[in-house]
Amino acid sequence: MAKAKNVYVCSSCGLESAKWNGRCPDCGEWNTFVEREAVVRKASSAKTTASTAVSYSSEDIMSLSDISSRSNEVRYNTGLGELDRVLGGGLVKGSLVLLGGEPGIGKSTLLLQICQYVGNNNTILYVSGEESARQIKLRANRLGVDTDSLYILAKSDAEAICETIQSAKPGVVIIDSVQTMCISGINSSQGSITQVRECTNLFMHTAKSAEIPIFIVGHVNKDGAIAGPKVMEHIVDAVLYFEGQRNLSYRILRAEKNRFGSTNEIGVFEMSDGGLKEVPNPSQMLLSSRPKNVSGCCVACTMEGTRPILAEVQALVTKSAFSAPRRTADGFDYNRLFLILAVLEKRLGLYYGGLDVYINIVGGLKLDEPAADLPVALALYSSLTDKLISDTLTAFGEIGLAGEIRGVSHIRQRVAEAQRLGFEKCIIPKACMTELDKSKYDIGIIPVSSLRGAIDAVTK
Ligand code: TYD
Ligand code: MG
Repeated sequence: MAKAKNVYVCSSCGLESAKWNGRCPDCGEWNTFVEREAVVRKASSAKTTASTAVSYSSEDIMSLSDISSRSNEVRYNTGLGELDRVLGGGLVKGSLVLLGGEPGIGKSTLLLQICQYVGNNNTILYVSGEESARQIKLRANRLGVDTDSLYILAKSDAEAICETIQSAKPGVVIIDSVQTMCISGINSSQGSITQVRECTNLFMHTAKSAEIPIFIVGHVNKDGAIAGPKVMEHIVDAVLYFEGQRNLSYRILRAEKNRFGSTNEIGVFEMSDGGLKEVPNPSQMLLSSRPKNVSGCCVACTMEGTRPILAEVQALVTKSAFSAPRRTADGFDYNRLFLILAVLEKRLGLYYGGLDVYINIVGGLKLDEPAADLPVALALYSSLTDKLISDTLTAFGEIGLAGEIRGVSHIRQRVAEAQRLGFEKCIIPKACMTELDKSKYDIGIIPVSSLRGAIDAVTK
């Protein structure tokens, strides 16, 4: 067998290559390749890579019915309903959860806050490689966390931490942050891709063998590229991202991956002096500072997991100063915007060539389901023609290439949410009328089958 050679690793995205590259073929960064010894975890490879592999005994193979009866999924509530929902109904025993987000967004605050409630029934080990024990104490005081079950360990040696977890057996572990953790046997600096990956593997192993849920904080760097956490995503059980704009106090918690629940759920929080507060009624929050009597605005009724949310879509269509007009979409799929513009041009005879087009979804929300097509198209139409759309109207529906409005899911929940928030009219795909008993709702329901029909309905 060939001897383990040195490899070249991209320090930006973690790509491994047998030879040095000036530019990383994966992430496109220049001069990021550094030479490393191929990482071989202690005493592992010699046995496992030998060609004389032994087969597993019949005890290692289990029948499915045996497994399900033995491993009953145990979930802890965290005391924050929004976080529990994003986790899929609470924190699962033995799971490894990555909480990613930009520095300063509130990851440490969120995790420290749940300690008060979780501490009622469990001991918590809070490992911090970033802040001193005193700093954590000060923060805990501010957040009103004074449980006796919270233990702080301000250290960063991952192997020693895992040993401590195995021996002390706390109920829940928080690692803040993975970028500050290191394994001394690995010849690479703290926060590097190799260290992050190997530390995560180690924590995963500890979480599974000791059956202790572990939260890992991972920083996402400024340009949105998730250098550190990206390499951890496939290792961990759940990936939660904490997002929001620094200047706004709202924060959105989103599940990117979840082995124990849906990835569509979002949790909404507000950062205040006393820490993060849950926002149980996000639609109201998102619509609270809506401009009145302005063209280019339309309220979308979208589903975030199991919850309907009303969000404002803003479009601005203006004369371009450039030969190639600009198109930007914030919170909406860029390619989908092109498709909708093409349908508006071809099927309705409108003209957006030579005009800049901007789309923004208010409040940092991302509308990535097809039902958001119709409100985006209506906002684009409204801005182009300067015709107002009533602020008591909401719409949802997928747009097809023929200009037809196609059916979407969860009709009743969407219409009920629009009604609850005092909307007077709701434009819905005609195909969905079979699921809806119009007489049960006070809100005016307008079924449409084409984009033309929808535009006629809003400009009537
Ligand atoms: P933090 O949790 O330290 O962020 P992260 O761990 O993601 O890097 O959050 C720090 C920010 O939160 C900081 O800008 C101050 C703000 N903050 C409040 O507004 N109120 C509070 O009660 C706390 C604890 C923090
Ligand atoms: Mg922090």
